[in-house]
Amino acid sequence: MVKRTAPRWSTFAPLLQRRTGTSWRQRRLDGAVDIHDLARLAHRRAPRAVFDYVDGAASDEVSKARNAEAFRRVEFSPKVLRDVETVSTETTILGKPSAMPFAFAPTGFTRMMHTQGEPAVARVAARAGIPYALSTVGTTSIEEVAAASGTGRRWFQLYVVKDRERSRDMLQRARHNGFDVLILTVDVPVSGARLRDARSGLSIPPSLTWRTFVNGALHPAWLFDFLTTPPPNFETMGSGDGLPSSTVQLGTTSAAAFDSSVDFDDLSWFRDVWQGPIVVKGIQRVDDAVRCADLGVEGIVVSNHGGRQLDRSVSTLELLPDVVAAVGSRTEVLVDSGVRSGADVVAAMALGAHGVLVGRAYLYGLMAGGEAGVQRAFDLLAQDVRRSMQLLGVNSIAELSPAVNPGLVRLRP
Ligand SMILES: Cc1cc2nc3c(=O)[nH]c(=O)nc-3n(C[C@H](O)[C@H](O)[C@H](O)COP(=O)(O)O)c2cc1C
Repeated sequence: MVKRTAPRWSTFAPLLQRRTGTSWRQRRLDGAVDIHDLARLAHRRAPRAVFDYVDGAASDEVSKARNAEAFRRVEFSPKVLRDVETVSTETTILGKPSAMPFAFAPTGFTRMMHTQGEPAVARVAARAGIPYALSTVGTTSIEEVAAASGTGRRWFQLYVVKDRERSRDMLQRARHNGFDVLILTVDVPVSGARLRDARSGLSIPPSLTWRTFVNGALHPAWLFDFLTTPPPNFETMGSGDGLPSSTVQLGTTSAAAFDSSVDFDDLSWFRDVWQGPIVVKGIQRVDDAVRCADLGVEGIVVSNHGGRQLDRSVSTLELLPDVVAAVGSRTEVLVDSGVRSGADVVAAMALGAHGVLVGRAYLYGLMAGGEAGVQRAFDLLAQDVRRSMQLLGVNSIAELSPAVNPGLVRLRP
């Protein structure tokens, strides 16, 4: 028999924990226990068109779904009875240390998602000790991002614009401001068919139509930020004059200013202009990876742009082992597209990646809560990297490598 007593306030009052010192915004972020929760918060905070710009992909969004599917097919074979009391997540990416085996991928128009934009992301990355890549189509100047990033590692991502001198100018400014790696994104000769953006008529800077106003009114925090801060613009490129007009319809012509004639022969031009490591992002075939390695680039990113370019392009996690086998000894092979957890990062490393980029994962955090949201996204990913390593029975990132520990992970057919 269980002995019962009448409930007394003095007994259960101490159990009712009131968390003091944290705002309800922070508590809401703390309540997000994975990146999907952050995406749900983002969905609530940002207007539909803005959320769709981030969350959406090209055409029927098959690649995006397959990216996620490939990570679901991951099967770990953990080692047990290993001392994993201490683990180190530190590694070297492109010649310099990173506290985690992942970096924040370049993403455009970031101030549209939250007015704190690129500087917020750069600050989180710098505090965390991981690299942050600024996009050509960023909404903050190169100089401001450098100031926010401080002593943090920063990379610069280039879309080649038709005016080569403008590309040269951006690269020189980036170099001068301490950006140490050039990421050359090569999977955007033209923009992918972003149907969600075409339907919503989203533009940069966002134009205030009745539809956006009404939708914005349903998201008052976002609208207040939007109306009380400078509108997002192409500040990274410098005052937007490299673009066809100051307003660009995202669903249609955002690549109109980009040079779609760039080819492998142009890589030597970048070598002349950029004195530092060059990484080619958007590789989706083994033979292209081999050509990059032959040309001596320091790294490649096996990427389908998160499914935002050619729909039904190959899932990068599946392609990764073949690319690593072909060029992994000559150039660093990074991977992205579909990473939503620390376990995903660990799986990619165990399939031979040298590092991983995350895109939407931190953008959902940014949309959900600005800098604090990005910090939450980082913390969730980092905790999960560490936990997954411990559960797999490894103490260091080097031990994740298939060359050291074959068979830690495979992809189920
Ligand atoms: C909203 C958004 C904007 C992006 N903008 C750029 C960009 O300006 N330059 C670039 O090289 N890649 C860009 N990307 C692609 C990312 O760098 C990265 O390849 C992709 O997000 C990885 O997939 P994931 O979002 O599933 O992590 C963008 C991705 C998103 C989601």
